[in-house]
Amino acid sequence: MNRLPNILLAVTGGIAAYKSAVLARLLIKSGCQVRVMMTAGACEFITPLTFQALTGQAVHTELLDETAELGMGHIELAKWADLVVVAPASANTIAKLAGGFADNLVTTVCLATDAPILIAPAMNQQMWANVIVQDNLKKLRQFGHHVISPDSGEQACGDVGAGRLPEPEDLCERILAFYARRQIPQSLLGKTVVITAGSTIEPIDPVRFLSNHSTGKMGYALASACRDAGADVILVSGKRVVLQTPYGVKKMTVGTADEMLQTCLSVCQRADVFIATAAVADFKMASVATHKIKKTQGQESMTLELVKNPDILATICSAYPNLLAVGFAAETQDTENYAKAKLAAKRLDMIAVNDVSDQSIGFGSDDNAMTVFFAERYGELSVDLPKASKANIAEQLVRCIAKIIDKKSL
Ligand code: C5P
Repeated sequence: MNRLPNILLAVTGGIAAYKSAVLARLLIKSGCQVRVMMTAGACEFITPLTFQALTGQAVHTELLDETAELGMGHIELAKWADLVVVAPASANTIAKLAGGFADNLVTTVCLATDAPILIAPAMNQQMWANVIVQDNLKKLRQFGHHVISPDSGEQACGDVGAGRLPEPEDLCERILAFYARRQIPQSLLGKTVVITAGSTIEPIDPVRFLSNHSTGKMGYALASACRDAGADVILVSGKRVVLQTPYGVKKMTVGTADEMLQTCLSVCQRADVFIATAAVADFKMASVATHKIKKTQGQESMTLELVKNPDILATICSAYPNLLAVGFAAETQDTENYAKAKLAAKRLDMIAVNDVSDQSIGFGSDDNAMTVFFAERYGELSVDLPKASKANIAEQLVRCIAKIIDKKSL
């Protein structure tokens, strides 16, 4: 991805302003440059000093401030920003923006910038429901601004309803996803991508199961990367995965391999691409005990009878031969030959293989390194993706997928 954006965070007057302090911190942690401007109303709820300490930058509050004009005046701020985020956006500021006012620093900068403007309204539910507020937001959308819908729930004033500023983690993810979508070629626009991720669990009895160490990180990173490339993404995830569902991705949680297969068979009916990152248990119990299996006096061993699980990827490929199918393989030796054999046996378009004898990549790690092999009909044989973060590898895999989408003429 390109460099992360310069974000100009505009804080306006509302109790949710405290959440913007956490938001500023999260954006900085994600690698963004953050500067803050505040309305007088915002300064009643939270001090500029808080944001100054968090961002390490002077906070801007005045339109006509002699000292600021020597450094970053309003025009410089407007030019510096790659993205302006108004959070929380009060009903008052929303009305001023819709009316084209330039009566304070925030409204003036919003008029003076050519950066996209993201507006995150936060207010009492009755104010949110007011037709004047809704009409102003409609105008702002028509002007090309983007609105992040507020959450519903209990409000600081005691009311319950829509109008809460989303939690900072959620806001941060939405802001970064919004920016990524504008930076990244929309190579999967209009495509539906189904991704399996994580481990399956195969019950032994009501309290025990067979599983593996897969954390789902690669599948979840791919879900974000496909979303950023414009796809509608359905993530069929093992229930032991503890990662946050990427914003905008539809997640379906499953337990066993059989459940994963049934869910995939159903959602793949309307899919264009199927990516199987899940570590599916190869075997399941021949029959699951209905009661907890008890150890008996003097018992030194136990034998479990296992039978083969369905191969989800192979089944989906033969049920939907037009799908672009991507497999993964973890190998410890002879990677190229094993990968190519799987590519042919499962009738895949592409397979990404990693050598798990290197313990610094693969299961649970934030990094990965892969070699991608393509089906012979695509002409290109293989691409090496050297060690990088799973997010970075996911972006490169999306580029590989986009290339063969064109050739497959999906
Ligand atoms: O045959 P192997 O398990 O090595 O193949 C790995 C690939 O097949 C992965 O993409 C994995 O998600 C998929 N797979 C599957 N169902 C299975 C076993 C593997 O979808 N039962």
